[in-house]
Amino acid sequence: MNLYRKLYLGVFLALFISGLAFAAPDIAAGKEKAGMCFACHGAAGNSKNPNFPILAGQKPAYLVNQLRAFRKGTRGNGMMQNMAANLSDAEINNLAAFFASVKNISAGGDKALATKGESKAPMCFGCHGNKAVGRGVTPRLAGQQPAYLQRQLKAFKDGSRRNGPMSGISKMLSEEDVQAVTEYMGSLK
Ligand code: HEC
Ligand code: HEC
Repeated sequence: MNLYRKLYLGVFLALFISGLAFAAPDIAAGKEKAGMCFACHGAAGNSKNPNFPILAGQKPAYLVNQLRAFRKGTRGNGMMQNMAANLSDAEINNLAAFFASVKNISAGGDKALATKGESKAPMCFGCHGNKAVGRGVTPRLAGQQPAYLQRQLKAFKDGSRRNGPMSGISKMLSEEDVQAVTEYMGSLK
């Protein structure tokens, strides 16, 4: 092998290895950091309290986006802006990988309302994935706390939450639709 090829290979390997170190999140480190989240988001992120969303089983790319949005202040919430303010990119990636690795324990939903909401759900599956299990930066809604989902749809409607295409979609839903479709999503596993 001549010198140039050796140099080339060396640079290539260095880039490749540093790229791997940057790209691969550390689930164990994420789990350690996540202890401070459980007080509100429940054990391992399976919140049983409708004030706090379930993070377990959420899509990692979505979690990364939201934590960055809280850190930047483009998604407003006093508690979460404080929590995210001092997280580094690597910590955010690790936390997201940890919560994504935990199985979602469905919050459940009101049966009668869920039955009513089922007919509205197919228009959501296109982006949120079949049975709303989430896809990339589009969140899992399946098994999420219905009251949390209702508050988010309200926030998209009144413009206090702005990211993504939900502002237009939320305006197509009546108050009754919002109630029914969120109870349906909560009841999915
Ligand atoms: C003091 C309580 C509290 C703590 C501690 C807390 N959170 Fe939250 N978190 C909230 C609340 C409240 C919301 C809902 C905000 C809203 O209504 O927009 C939320 C929302 C989120 C969301 C958005 C979920 C979604 O479905 O869009 C993520 C992601 C999140 N928190 C991650 C974390 C992580 C990671 C930690 C730990 C580093 C953490 N939180 C610690 C209260 C808390
Ligand atoms: C065109 C694609 C698209 C469609 C259709 C769509 N959504 Fe969304 N939705 C998104 C994206 C993208 C986000 C993430 C926005 C963000 O990054 O803050 C989102 C976020 C949400 C959230 C916030 C979840 C959370 O954890 O905070 C709720 C609630 C929601 N959508 C409900 C619905 C419902 C109900 C329907 C069907 C009536 C629906 N969406 C249809 C793309 C879509």
